[in-house]
Amino acid sequence: VSPELQQMHEAHNLLRKFYHHLLVNTKDGQQALEYLLNRGFTMESIEKFQIGYSLNSWDFVCKFLQKRKFPLEIMERAGLVIRREKDNSFFDRFRNRIMFPIFDRKGNPIAFSGRALGDDDPKYLNSPETAIFNKSKILYNFQMARPHIKKLQKAVLFEGFADVISADRAGVENGLATMGTSLTEEHVALIRKNTDSVTVCYDSDQAGIEAANRALEMLTQAGCQVRVAWMPDNLDPDDYIKQYSEEKFRNEVIESSLTYMGFKMRYLRRGKRLNDEGDRLLYIEEVLKEISNLSKAVERDHYLRQLAAEFSLSLEALKQQQKQVYFSKE
Ligand code: UTP
Ligand code: MN
Ligand code: MN
Ligand code: MN
Ligand code: MN
Repeated sequence: VSPELQQMHEAHNLLRKFYHHLLVNTKDGQQALEYLLNRGFTMESIEKFQIGYSLNSWDFVCKFLQKRKFPLEIMERAGLVIRREKDNSFFDRFRNRIMFPIFDRKGNPIAFSGRALGDDDPKYLNSPETAIFNKSKILYNFQMARPHIKKLQKAVLFEGFADVISADRAGVENGLATMGTSLTEEHVALIRKNTDSVTVCYDSDQAGIEAANRALEMLTQAGCQVRVAWMPDNLDPDDYIKQYSEEKFRNEVIESSLTYMGFKMRYLRRGKRLNDEGDRLLYIEEVLKEISNLSKAVERDHYLRQLAAEFSLSLEALKQQQKQVYFSKE
């Protein structure tokens, strides 16, 4: 490893410890700690995920690093400080934020995401892409979840940090999250290397459901058995656990997640009024298309029968239409 990369790693490790110390042991971190405890984070989670707090200061980290002989030009390339255009001086990137360290596969901290305490924009401020941090390859919590994923032969994929941490507290320790980017082929390959069974548990709001649909497609394409969790009232997993319970989350969200077709049917139903003739016909057509894409004949038969029964259609008519529209190339 080059000396520059080593310094980047060392700086992240020192700051991880220091941010954590500020949060749990100091008066400066008290408000942030109260914020977290009010949200339902436990001291145990705060320790396990090494959560911290960055001071409300423009130069605390600059001075901290300088005193320890880290060149600020390198710290800028590490994403920890930012250079001012006008006089080439530096200032701290993360100020007055809850700090979530992000670890590589070996457990070294390589980046941070800082959450605002209030409604500041952005809600989460992330480290930029650096020589040691590539967002499209990193999954949050991978290093701790991996043994659980291996043992259970199943991974759970979340949208956010808080979701991973709350799920972990609820006993779901095989959780991973992308970091404010959509799932990439590299993420999929990393998951696939460790298991072929994945439960997608994204936020049940509009954006989350669309993202879940894309993740479902990508993971299925890669040969994974995929299930999708769907929570009521646009909730995200962290909200759900708080509003209902850890037990309900395990049993009624994770263990009751939808199969591929179960999700597709619910997804295609959204925004449609099935007692409206036009919507109903559109829905039947869209479901028929999904059924036609299934690779297993037994599954196709099963869902065709289900569709026929639900809308009082003859199985013959459905098969006929399917043949005309979707299997005409064969
Ligand atoms: P969400 O908006 O769902 O946030 O974004 P959240 O995880 O529920 O956050 P809380 O519960 O309000 O604290 C999901 C994820 O998208 C990324 C973060 O990784 C976040 O966890 N994100 C979101 C950003 O990177 N920047 C943002 O400004 C917002
Ligand atoms: Mn500690
Ligand atoms: Mn969201
Ligand atoms: Mn969310
Ligand atoms: Mn949330």
